[in-house]
Amino acid sequence: MIVIKTPEEIEKMRRAGTLAGQVLKYIEPFVKVGVSTLELDNLCAQFTTDHGAISAPLNYHGFPKSICTSINNVVCHGIPSAKDILQDGDIVNVDITVILDGYHGDTSCTFMVGQVDEKIVSLVNRTEKAMYRGIAAVKAGKYLYEVGRAIEKYIGKFGYSIVQTYGGHGIGKEFHEDPHVLHHFSQHNKIRLKEGMIFTVEPMINMGKTAEVETSSTDGWTVTTVDGSISAQFEHTILVTSGEAEILTAR
Ligand code: MF3
Ligand code: CO
Ligand code: CO
Repeated sequence: MIVIKTPEEIEKMRRAGTLAGQVLKYIEPFVKVGVSTLELDNLCAQFTTDHGAISAPLNYHGFPKSICTSINNVVCHGIPSAKDILQDGDIVNVDITVILDGYHGDTSCTFMVGQVDEKIVSLVNRTEKAMYRGIAAVKAGKYLYEVGRAIEKYIGKFGYSIVQTYGGHGIGKEFHEDPHVLHHFSQHNKIRLKEGMIFTVEPMINMGKTAEVETSSTDGWTVTTVDGSISAQFEHTILVTSGEAEILTAR
């Protein structure tokens, strides 16, 4: 069941989304060569509580930290660690979800660390563009599958692959609500968009030809590309309107 948010709920989602965006903006200057992902986790967790909010990932289905940090071939759900120290040429997705006044805001960005290979820079920039193409396809009265169609149309020309195992999601009082948002075209997303729906668009794009991913059997969370290729991701939480979708996590 897809929850249509009331005007009061939309206002709370704007506040939660804005804070999530502020956490990302706050952490950006710390994402440098030599920093550990655990340090980034601690800083984000502190900033979040200082602003009266809760880090949603912490203890979510047993997730052990407050943010997700996914480096290079890690697709998503990377666990911050003192052992993971950012190196020159790395890319790292930092995924922030906060709960403010009972409502969730979810956003992520792939940062480039030091001097990054130009092919990887292209992957990152195109992944961000793919997210915005998906968002631009959202409008009340259209089908949700236009998101995946737009992303597929744009990404198709580069020889990358779009991860299908994970998708975007409705969001509100719950971290993950209906609908499941696919980043490729599928009849499963033949769902009519209505004003007041709120969901994320968060494409994961692998540089290699295989979209296949696997989850670490050691920690139960870390998702990597099966072929070892680099993967990038960007995410916004958006509100469906009669015009352009409103980005709730803008920064
Ligand atoms: N923030 C992720 C998303 O975009 C979900 C992370 S779940 C966690 O949906 F448990 F790994 F934190
Ligand atoms: Co999300
Ligand atoms: Co997220």
